[in-house]
Amino acid sequence: MSDTGPFAGKVALVTGSESGIGRETARVLGESGAVLILNGRNPVRLEQTRRELAAAGLHVVSCVADVTRYADCARLIDTAIGAFGRLDILVTNASISQRAYFADMQPEVFREVLDSNVYGSVYPLKAALPHLLRSRGSVTFISSISALNGMPSGSAYCAGKAAVANLAHTLRLELADTGLHFGVVHIGFTQNDADKRVLDAAGRPVPIAHRPPRWQKTQREVAGLIVDHIRRRRPRTVISALGHLIVLVHTWFPRLGDWIVLTTTRRLKHFYE
Ligand SMILES: NC(=O)c1ccc[n+]([C@@H]2O[C@H](COP(=O)([O-])OP(=O)(O)OC[C@H]3O[C@@H](n4cnc5c(N)ncnc54)[C@H](OP(=O)(O)O)[C@@H]3O)[C@@H](O)[C@H]2O)c1
Repeated sequence: MSDTGPFAGKVALVTGSESGIGRETARVLGESGAVLILNGRNPVRLEQTRRELAAAGLHVVSCVADVTRYADCARLIDTAIGAFGRLDILVTNASISQRAYFADMQPEVFREVLDSNVYGSVYPLKAALPHLLRSRGSVTFISSISALNGMPSGSAYCAGKAAVANLAHTLRLELADTGLHFGVVHIGFTQNDADKRVLDAAGRPVPIAHRPPRWQKTQREVAGLIVDHIRRRRPRTVISALGHLIVLVHTWFPRLGDWIVLTTTRRLKHFYE
């Protein structure tokens, strides 16, 4: 384990870290002194990421596991404990998103998206909880600014992201005396890996809808903010000016919020579809 940096001596697990924001969050945690357990479902991509981070001098192991399966999560946590003997930081980042209207969606696609966001957070936490309580560690659920307000074409995704935000709050209250940190990070538009896919109404993987590049933060910027959130043990972090605007409008001017969303749905269809 590293003996320098704010997370020196700490062991961090980031789910869905074979790619995207999860990979960059693991990288920043590693650069801040933590040793890492990477996770994903694709063994080839996961191994590529493990090698990339190891080549950068980070101390890293990986475990292929589907976080919507409890048995996989138990094995994932066993891998972490077997490798490093403890667990201090859990970031539940793995997620599937969608590009489909509710009326068109196959019921099983709704379930798949919801499960990846809800049980994909609950199961790793359930398996890791005894170890995190022992270390008085930190749990961060990765949510989205789309959980702060409704977003057409994102029903199951938004519902799942809103669920984990409430879960973080409830567990913070329920386990208040334990010293365990529970937080949620609402991420805004972020640059994506070129091969990122989301599900359409029939469950087929499709590219994500176009977002203007000037509205997007880099994965590295977002990872830095997530790691800062963990270091400060913050209850909630909302990323991006748009995120703060949504909180303000949704809280104080909800009808205006709906008008803006409905207007952009009509005028910027490609943004949602
Ligand atoms: N990018 C944005 O603009 C944005 C905005 C708001 C919130 N977020 C949130 O930020 C997080 C990261 O997003 P991203 O943009 O980096 O997406 P991404 O590139 O698709 O990364 C998600 C990762 O999760 C993995 N994954 C999905 N289901 C899994 C499962 N059941 N078990 C294990 N791994 C699983 C994916 O790999 P496989 O599918 O190969 O397993 C992938 O490595 C997500 O929670 C997302 O909702 C992103």
